[in-house]
Amino acid sequence: MALKKVDTAVFISGNGTNLKNLIRFSLSKKSPIKIKFVVSNNKNAKGLRYPKKFNINFKVYSFINESKSENRILKDLKNKKIKLICLAGFMKVLSKSFIKKFGYKILNIHPSLLPKYKGLNTHKRVIENKEKFSGCTVHYVNSKLDSGKIILQKKVKIRKKENYKVLERKIQKQEHILYPKAIMKVFSP
Ligand code: GRF
Repeated sequence: MALKKVDTAVFISGNGTNLKNLIRFSLSKKSPIKIKFVVSNNKNAKGLRYPKKFNINFKVYSFINESKSENRILKDLKNKKIKLICLAGFMKVLSKSFIKKFGYKILNIHPSLLPKYKGLNTHKRVIENKEKFSGCTVHYVNSKLDSGKIILQKKVKIRKKENYKVLERKIQKQEHILYPKAIMKVFSP
């Protein structure tokens, strides 16, 4: 008998290429997760086209009052019996209280080899510092930015004269491979 998939919410703020990729993955037989809900803080997020396209429930929360929005999200997650959150380009830092009250795993993908280059504008900073390698990381979320325990990383080599836009695209391709792999790792028996 097939195991029940973990009901999952994906949080986004922007383009949603990782969301699209996770939806595709979740529809495969081998996926341990099922994406039931998409959360955004940005009503104009391009990525909201994917829950529409794949008929997945979604909701936008204003975050004008952060703690009120977090409490509303928690209530909705509870009603939908969500047992995993995957952050995918979500531009808000979830509070300690949110993480504690949710009580299940929260994962994030970050476009650097953490603990190096936490925060924003990663690729630009990497190129400016003339790094030879960069990459991406899937990690557990705690209340400190980009600091939870690392699940998986993928390293990529930076070519001479590569600009940060090219590096961004190259790393995004790897992100789309790494996130499903990390989820498989988290839920492998
Ligand atoms: C990705 O580069 C991810 O690593 C970072 O935000 C970006 C989101 O891209 N956390 P997308 O919205 O999934 O296309």
